[in-house]
Amino acid sequence: MLSRGDNKLDIHGRIPSHVGIIMDGNGRWAESRGLPRIEGHRRGSERVKEIVEVSLDIGIKCITLYAFSTENWQRPKSEVSMLMKLLELYLKNELSKLVKKGIVFRTIGETWRLPENIQKLIKDTTEMTASNKGMTLVAALSYSSRNEITRGIKKIIASGIKPEEVTEDLVTSSLDTDGLPQPDLIIRTSGERRLSNFLLWQSAYAELYFTDVLWPDFDKEEFMLALQDFQGRERRFGSLPVSSNAS
Ligand code: IPE
Ligand code: IPE
Ligand code: MG
Repeated sequence: MLSRGDNKLDIHGRIPSHVGIIMDGNGRWAESRGLPRIEGHRRGSERVKEIVEVSLDIGIKCITLYAFSTENWQRPKSEVSMLMKLLELYLKNELSKLVKKGIVFRTIGETWRLPENIQKLIKDTTEMTASNKGMTLVAALSYSSRNEITRGIKKIIASGIKPEEVTEDLVTSSLDTDGLPQPDLIIRTSGERRLSNFLLWQSAYAELYFTDVLWPDFDKEEFMLALQDFQGRERRFGSLPVSSNAS
């Protein structure tokens, strides 16, 4: 495991096209400081801005941020409403920056379950950035992979397609992530080593990176370590290593 100070990212080396991030540990970050959980979420949203900037700088084409899961609706109403407030602030404050930086904004998940004002902000942000040509920033909101796959199956069945016409490509295109590259790297902060219903179909061959660092502490340097770790991975996709001379 690399540690801070070891950062030697090769910026001319392999950079993942699509990075998915499970931004976990906001609550623990706050609780360990005797602060209300929302303070952790607030700090976490500052990190989002930083990580988006870094991603732009190093030429990542797409990042997907897991911000709110379908299961997170089960949290206390007060926490959910504060998270929604933070989301509203983020969209309001960042919109002009996203437009200026050429970022394309889109969402995955059941966004129609979000409060109406947020749905409106999402719609505006999506529309205003749709013709941009830069990095794609995907927010997973009211998202879970099983829910997405189930909705995708319903769409396929409703289209009247025959079983023999169902292909992996068709399933892929029935998902909310239609048109996005497959994630090359999934990062999860906070020491939990699970995917918690995030991009299960899409991450079939993603490299997984788990760090104990809590999301509000996940700064540029930590991100660089994750990318450097990715550069050291050998991706085989079920085949043999390129260097292998087995015959
Ligand atoms: C991640 O932080 C943010 C969301 C899930 C919305 P948590 O709120 O899950 O923080 P912990 O895991 O309780 O520390
Ligand atoms: C995953 O974190 C969801 C997000 C980061 C938005 P959780 O904190 O909800 O996941 P579990 O409960 O630890 O699996
Ligand atoms: Mg958590």
